Amino acid sequence: MTLFGTNVKMHQTATESRAFIDALALFQPPADVQMFTILPFTSLPAIVEPARRAGIWVGAQNMHAAVDGEYTGEVSAPMLADIGVDLVLLGHAERRRLFHEDDVTIGRKVETALAHGLRVLLCVGETAAEKACGAGPESVVRQLKMSLHGVADLRRVIVAYEPVWAIGEAGTEAGPADIAPQLAAIRAAIDGVPLVYGGSVTEGSARRYAELAEIDGLFVGRAARSAAGFCHVLEAAYRMPREKERAHE
Ligand code: PGA
Repeated sequence: MTLFGTNVKMHQTATESRAFIDALALFQPPADVQMFTILPFTSLPAIVEPARRAGIWVGAQNMHAAVDGEYTGEVSAPMLADIGVDLVLLGHAERRRLFHEDDVTIGRKVETALAHGLRVLLCVGETAAEKACGAGPESVVRQLKMSLHGVADLRRVIVAYEPVWAIGEAGTEAGPADIAPQLAAIRAAIDGVPLVYGGSVTEGSARRYAELAEIDGLFVGRAARSAAGFCHVLEAAYRMPREKERAHE
C-alpha cells in the first residue's frame, strides 16, 4: 500500500475541512493509494463520517499521553477513538520545537495511542545543526528508539521522515543525497513499518521522492492544503493523468 496524506496544521476551520473532504471524496486515487488527512481537532467530529465513506483516513495532530486527568485544554486518546478518528500524528517537528515535546513524552503518547486502537503517524527528522555535523542518521534512530521503546506490535505504526530543515515556509527542499543516510538508517533500525517522506514536497518534487525505494508514500503540508493542490501533488507523484485530461479520455 502507498500512503499519501496531508498535514493541514492550524489552517482550516471545521467548515473549510468539510469542503476539503467533500472535494477529496470526488477524487479517485490509484487503487493502492490510501489517502489520509491530519486535521485540527475542531474539524474532526464533522469530518470522520464523510471521510470514512470516502475511504480517507482522518488523523488528529496531537494528543496527551494521559488517558484522562487534570490537563486543561488537552485531548486524550479515548476522546479521539470515541469519535472514530483513525490515526494520530505524534512528534511533529513543530510540536518538538514550539511545544518542547521530547522523545520520552512522545514515546508515552505512542503507547497510549496504540493502546486505544489508534494508528500512529510518528515523525522523526534531523535538525539543520545535526545535519551540519553529519549526525542525521544517529538523530533519527535515537528518536525512533526512544519513541517506540517497548512497543511490541508495530503494525499500527507509520513513520514519517521529515528533515526539520526542509519543513514549512522557511524550509529548503531536500535533495536525494541529503536524505539517503537517514532513510537507510531508519530502514536498518526498524523493518516492515511503512515510511513516508515529508518536508516541502511539491507537485514538482513529488515524483522524485515517491520513486525512492525506501519510501512508501508522501506526507505533504503547504502544497496539499487545498483539495486541488492535494490532488495535483498525488497525480504528479504517481504519474496519474490530470483530472481534466481524464475527463476527456
Ligand atoms: P510542508 O510541511 O510540506 O509545508 O513543508 C510538511 C509538514 O510539516 O508535515
